[in-house]
Amino acid sequence: MSAVAMDVIVSLAKRRGFIFQSSEIYGGTGSCWDYGPLGVELKNNIKRVWWRDFVHQRDDMVGLDASILMHAMVWKASGHVDHFTDPMVDCRECKHRFRADQVDERDWTHYCPATKGNKFTIKAGEPCKHCGARRTLCPDCGNGELTAPRQFNLMFKTFMGPVEEDAAVTYLRPETAQGIFVNFDNVLQSTRRKLPFGIAQIGKAFRNEITPGNFIFRSREFEQMEIEFFVNPHERLDGRPADEAWHDRWIADCQAWFVRYGLAADHVKLHEHGRDELAHYSKRTVDLLYKFPMGWSELMGIANRTDFDLKQHSKFSGKSLTYFDEERKEHLVPFVIEPSAGVDRALLAFLLDAYQEEQVRGEKRVVLRLHPELAPIKIAVLPLLKKRQEIVAMGHDLRRRLTRRWLTLYDDTAAIGRLYRRQDEVGTPYCVTVDVKTVGDAEKGEAGDDKVTIRERDTMEQIRVPIGDLETVFGRLLDTGTPWRDITGSYPRAEG
Ligand code: GAP
Repeated sequence: MSAVAMDVIVSLAKRRGFIFQSSEIYGGTGSCWDYGPLGVELKNNIKRVWWRDFVHQRDDMVGLDASILMHAMVWKASGHVDHFTDPMVDCRECKHRFRADQVDERDWTHYCPATKGNKFTIKAGEPCKHCGARRTLCPDCGNGELTAPRQFNLMFKTFMGPVEEDAAVTYLRPETAQGIFVNFDNVLQSTRRKLPFGIAQIGKAFRNEITPGNFIFRSREFEQMEIEFFVNPHERLDGRPADEAWHDRWIADCQAWFVRYGLAADHVKLHEHGRDELAHYSKRTVDLLYKFPMGWSELMGIANRTDFDLKQHSKFSGKSLTYFDEERKEHLVPFVIEPSAGVDRALLAFLLDAYQEEQVRGEKRVVLRLHPELAPIKIAVLPLLKKRQEIVAMGHDLRRRLTRRWLTLYDDTAAIGRLYRRQDEVGTPYCVTVDVKTVGDAEKGEAGDDKVTIRERDTMEQIRVPIGDLETVFGRLLDTGTPWRDITGSYPRAEG
C-alpha cells in the first residue's frame, strides 16, 4: 500500500493549512472537509490543469457550469430516485447504521462467553480466538441484532421555495453529469458542434454516504471533474464501434494524466467492472484505482453510458435530444463516454504520492514532491538576515514582482534552514534567498552584486542568479517545464 500512513497526511494537512475538519470547533462533522490557505491553492491548481488539458487544449471539448439545484424530474429520469441507493442495516440497540456490504470490513466488539463475558475488539473478518465465534451482532456495541438490509437513497433532499411540501421537493445533485445531459441540445445548438465532442464540468456534488471516511476519500460534499463525450454509435474507429474505441482512448488518457502530474505509474491500475458492479446506465465501466493507504481504491471511473441518459431525459421532458447525422441523413441519439474524477480523491492521491521523508545531515526532512504545476506556492522569497532593512525591502520587492506571474510568498519568521524546511514540507519548488552580497553594505561603501540564490526543492541544489534573469529563469522552469538540470549549467553553484 501507499508508503505513507493516512494519519501522517491528515496531520500535515491540518498543521500546514491544507485541510481542516468542517465545523471543527463544534466537534467536526467527520463527513465534510474545509480547504485551508494551501489546500485551496492545490485544489484550484488541480482543477486548472485538468480544465486546460482536457478542455482548452483539445478542439473537441467545451465547458459548462450548470446549477446544483435542478428540476426534480431530472433525478427521476436519470434513475437516481429509484436506483441511487445503498443497502443499509441498523443496530436495534445502539441504532448505529452500516452499509450492509461493508459491515464485515469493520473491527467488531465481542463479549466472549469463554472468558466470562470479557469485552474484546476483534479485527475485521476474524473470529474470536477464545471461543471461535464470528460476528453476528452489531460491530460497534456488540449487543444489538442488525435489521435486514433496506435500500437507502443517497441523495440529499431539500425544498425549492418557501413551502415544504411534496411538490417542492428537489435534491442536491449527486453527480454533475446530469447538468450536462439536460443542456446537451443547448450546447449543440449554440456551438454547432459535430460528433464526436465533449462537454466538461467541474463542480460540487453531494451524497448522503452511510459510511463516509478515510479523510477526504469519501465525504458527503465533494467536487467532481466530469466529461460527457458524445459519440456517433454508427461510426467505426480503429475497426471497432466508435463508442468502444473512444472509451479505450479516454481510459488511456486519464491514466496518463494522473501519472504526468506525479502519481507513480505502479500506484495506479485499472479495474474492469464485473456485470454485478455495473451502474444501471453503464454498458462498460473501468475504474482507475490508486494504491491508497487503506488499499487499492477508486480514484475515478470511466463509463460507457450509452444513450441511456439522453433517451431518458427525452422521454421524461418530451424534448428531442438527438443529433442530425448529415452523412446518413438521420437523427440519432449519441452514445456517451464519461470520464468522471473526484477532485478531492485526486488531491489526496497527489498528496500521498508526493510525501517523502529523508535524512539530510542527520536530520529528518519532510518534502512534498508535488508537480510544480500543482504546488500551492511556486516560489518563496526568504531574507537571510531580517535585521537588514535593505534585504527585507528587496525581498518584499521581489515577491511583489514575481507573484504577478507565479504565486510567491515572503517569509522571514525563522532562520533560513527552518524556512527551507517549511517550504519543502508544503511542496514549494523554488526558494529565492536575498543575502548581504545581494544588497551590499552602504556604510562600508560596498556595492551589492544584485544576485540572489535559487534553491531547488528536490535536489536542494543552489545557484546564484542575477535578479534581472529571475523572470526568464522561472518562466523556463515553471511555464515551459524546462528541467532544473538544464538551467544549472548557466549559473554558478551557491553553497548551502
Ligand atoms: N457521473 C458518474 C459518477 O458520479 P461515481 O463513480 O459515482 O460516478 C465519480 O463518481 C467519482 O467521484 C469517483 O470516482 C470519485 O473520485 C468521486 N466520488 C464519488 N463519491 C465520492 C465521495 N463520497 N467522496 C469523494 N469523492 C467521491
